[in-house]
Amino acid sequence: MSAATSDLATTPYELLGGNEEIVRRIVDRFYDLMDAAPEARELREMHAPDLGPMRDRLSWFLTGWLGGPAVYAERTGGGACMSTVHGVFAIDERASAQWMWCMRRALDAPDVPASVRSMVEPALERMTGLLRNR
Ligand code: HEM
Repeated sequence: MSAATSDLATTPYELLGGNEEIVRRIVDRFYDLMDAAPEARELREMHAPDLGPMRDRLSWFLTGWLGGPAVYAERTGGGACMSTVHGVFAIDERASAQWMWCMRRALDAPDVPASVRSMVEPALERMTGLLRNR
């Protein structure tokens, strides 16, 4: 296998180190920012006061989404459809921009290789666009 082919065969999860801890660190940075930054105030207010359960659930979801094991479905008893979960919230351009604002900063750290950022950010941007319902 050529180097180029093997790069293509590598998941973002493997490029991050292939363990759940790094995904959890990114998610913790994401929610720490959401919790503290005035720039994300409306997004924070949509969430429950206790962000602990979301730190688990988003970490589990992203682990599979990045190409790692499907732990979200395993640990939540079947998983959930993201459109359905988000359909109960009014997600407008501001909410989706605030989500991306937090995630961009969470990914902009030395433990996330630039190659992973450039793969993952546009895909998340598309997803936040799809989850918009206002
Ligand atoms: C478009 C902007 C988004 C907004 C405004 C938003 C907002 C929310 C809110 C308010 C919740 C419930 C939080 C709580 O119960 O405290 C939630 C749950 C969740 N969100 Fe988002 N979200 C967005 C985008 C995303 C994206 C892009 C992903 C995945 C990459 C994602 C993954 C999840 C997951 C996994 C849950 C938990 C679902 C469950 O297991 O019940 N969200 N989101």
